[in-house]
Amino acid sequence: MKAIVLNEIHEPIALKEVSIPEPSTGEVCIQLKASALNHRDVWVQKGLYPGMKLPCILGSDGVGTVVKMGDGIVEDLVGEEVIINPGMFWGENPDVASKDFVILGMPINGTFAEFVNVPFEYVHAKPEHLSIEQAAALPLAGVTAYRALFTKAGLLPEEKVFINGIGGGVALMALVFAVANDCEVYVSSSSDEKIEKAIALGAKGGINYKTEKWSKKLIKEAGYFDVIIDGAGGDNFASLVDIAAPGGRISIYGGTAGNISNVLPPKIFFKQLKIMGTTMGTQTDFDIMLHFVDKYEVEPVIDKIYPLSEAKEAFKRMEDGKQFGKIILKH
Ligand SMILES: NC(=O)c1ccc[n+]([C@@H]2O[C@H](COP(=O)([O-])OP(=O)(O)OC[C@H]3O[C@@H](n4cnc5c(N)ncnc54)[C@H](OP(=O)(O)O)[C@@H]3O)[C@@H](O)[C@H]2O)c1
Repeated sequence: MKAIVLNEIHEPIALKEVSIPEPSTGEVCIQLKASALNHRDVWVQKGLYPGMKLPCILGSDGVGTVVKMGDGIVEDLVGEEVIINPGMFWGENPDVASKDFVILGMPINGTFAEFVNVPFEYVHAKPEHLSIEQAAALPLAGVTAYRALFTKAGLLPEEKVFINGIGGGVALMALVFAVANDCEVYVSSSSDEKIEKAIALGAKGGINYKTEKWSKKLIKEAGYFDVIIDGAGGDNFASLVDIAAPGGRISIYGGTAGNISNVLPPKIFFKQLKIMGTTMGTQTDFDIMLHFVDKYEVEPVIDKIYPLSEAKEAFKRMEDGKQFGKIILKH
């Protein structure tokens, strides 16, 4: 089969021929129809990911049809159209993943391939209202956004939400979830055009985080926020503390902008803020996220679709940060 295999760090992204894997006991083999990029794939290609094991087929998100079953599975899933929960072996404690937790696409072979084998418990029916491409966009960003908003921050309908850096895949998923939950959502971006696109998707407003004293301007326009979702960190994080309402909750899932070095502790403790780290999600988070997506017919936003053979161009688009929505590979 054809697959994007990384044999060594910095190896150019290219399709290579590898053998079709046989499903082990408890696994199903899925013929993939589409997959989606996450920034993680770019970090992995550059060797900037912990616990690297090479060679490895990249890709965490995928949708396809079950074509073969390993031994030990009672239910016959052959012919079913499925999506995959890429976060596996979380463990018993819902608050934090165990040391066994792994993500499809590093260290175990992922979805940028014609076929992938996964333990059957991580295979879920594709939401019926989604196209193949929309379903491919959902898993990793969807479960991360869902846990950040609901499991961690306990978001309620009609609360005010701020989502930082709306160009990110998780951020945009958080936007569509929060809008579906009937919340008042504001976003930030380095691009005024992306803010306009977010407003078209249901955001009430937005602010360019590159502008001077943006937090003061935003507070004047929109007031303070109950829930803040951040994947950037960096010194802009201090402004997120400023815009939080007393008792506000901040969920942080990424650190694209680097270390946070300038937050004044009194701003956190006098406002009684809750600042919570969050990473992907449990099987339960994934199940409830799918239920939410079905119930509100939520549709992930797609930026661009490339054939699998043009994955190199797709990686370049993500590295350049030009996307608004998920970058999809059609197999
Ligand atoms: N913990 C987890 O489970 C988890 C899961 C997924 C991703 N992540 C991490 O989360 C981060 C985002 O990943 P992703 O795949 O969703 O998105 P992505 O496609 O990597 O998006 C990056 C976006 O971050 C925004 N950004 C960059 N610098 C910023 C700054 N200084 N302030 C505010 N926003 C800034 C930009 O938004 P604009 O273009 O709008 O300016 C950019 O489009 C990455 O670091 C990733 O590794 C973590």
